[in-house]
Amino acid sequence: MHHEKDHGEDQERHGPAYELAALRAVAAACVKETQEDRLIERVTEIICRAFSITNFGVVLHDDRSGLLRDHPSARRRGGSAALELALGEGIVGTVAATGKPMRVPDVSREPVYRMGDSETRSELTVPLRVGDQIIGVINSESTALDAFTEDDEHLLMALAGQVAPTLARLRTMEAIRDSEEKYRALYEDNPSTYLTIDARGTILSVNEFGAQQLGYSAEELVGRPVESIFHPDERAEALGRLTQRLAGPGKVAHWERRQVRKDGQVRWVKESARSVRGSTGEPVVLAVCEDITERRRAEEQARESVRKLERLLDETVQTLAAVVEVKDPYTSGHQRRVVRIAAAVADEMGLPVERAKSLRVAGLLHDIGKIQVPAEILAKPGSLSEAEKSIIRTHSEVGYRLLKGISFEWPVAEIVLQHHERMDGSGYPGGLKGGKILLEARILGVADVVEAISSHRPYRPAFGLDYALAEIESLAGSVYDADVVRACLRLFRDKGFSID
Ligand SMILES: [Fe+2]
Repeated sequence: MHHEKDHGEDQERHGPAYELAALRAVAAACVKETQEDRLIERVTEIICRAFSITNFGVVLHDDRSGLLRDHPSARRRGGSAALELALGEGIVGTVAATGKPMRVPDVSREPVYRMGDSETRSELTVPLRVGDQIIGVINSESTALDAFTEDDEHLLMALAGQVAPTLARLRTMEAIRDSEEKYRALYEDNPSTYLTIDARGTILSVNEFGAQQLGYSAEELVGRPVESIFHPDERAEALGRLTQRLAGPGKVAHWERRQVRKDGQVRWVKESARSVRGSTGEPVVLAVCEDITERRRAEEQARESVRKLERLLDETVQTLAAVVEVKDPYTSGHQRRVVRIAAAVADEMGLPVERAKSLRVAGLLHDIGKIQVPAEILAKPGSLSEAEKSIIRTHSEVGYRLLKGISFEWPVAEIVLQHHERMDGSGYPGGLKGGKILLEARILGVADVVEAISSHRPYRPAFGLDYALAEIESLAGSVYDADVVRACLRLFRDKGFSID
């Protein structure tokens, strides 16, 4: 390249030897530099040291904006602005767009020329391209007319031919490094344990976070049998589940298990495992574990408070049931025995657990309304007058009023209200018929009658169970629900159920 004559540099700085030295230096930089910016700085430095050019720089194409901009290392004459052009604009834009070099002896006669530096007279610009990929251009300008020869053009093309593929390679490597770093960060810092194990259950790898979770270093864990971190009770099962994954490639399975830290502490984890290809191509199991100890603890606490509430409800119901028995000692145990019969019938009929629960509570409390009936009437031997009977009959409504204020999950108050309703409408207080009566109330009604008839009463001796069963059998389908009666008879007659 011509050095500028007014700089008065010696002729030795120009010539084939010098060009060869520059080429060699650029080639060396292309091998040595691992960063795009460093490489460009180095190339600019080499070329500028070798040749005196007024303005020189690598101009890069920005894929996102489509603009061509000077690399920060570009050497521009004091006061002239950094170059920024669109693709196709000016000499730089034209060279970048076409991929063909331009050697312009007199810029004032070049139609595409856009003035940057007013002192520039001639210009040589060569493309930096790899295939269709536009990387940018190498741009050199001189204040002298016709400063660049054909040899200069060849030299700069040769340099560009080395630099362009190197830049492309560095960019690809940068992109790979970026994504590797991202995955590495995900792998190492993600609050999950990543384990790979082979078919024998040996730990092949573990991420740093995962090792820490277990109280080990990653080095300590690699090579150990994975069973050593399993809970002793689950060892065989947990290993089996993992190695089974090798049979079904790609299929992910999840489960919860316990693991033991180096210090003996037990933690719950949710594990997902699948088969992946190992470093030598053989299938290995990748297990991802998330610590769920706190969640399990919270769940256990929630279950415990539900249990406490249920116990409290149970005790409350028992106490309420005892209240009426204090008042009416002759029916002591009646409600509990009714519950036993009703629960067995519900079970025999396949009633869902929740409904059976509500039946049980209603059964324990079904006569609670009797606390409003005078004790003399409840304890009266012999038969009752109509007036006394009607007082006793208020007990289902009184019971309903007492219980409806309690927010049971089930319609306990309604079942109590309806336990004297009968299928043909002959019952009280509503005279409801058939399906209008809750099934639980129909079961409770039958259980109540069977228990009452078969037990001793102040006003009469016990009639006995057989008599009670014959009574409900004869009234099945009319007064009592036929299905309920059938279930009840099956229990007592065929299945040997007894009240006591
Ligand atoms: Fe009753």
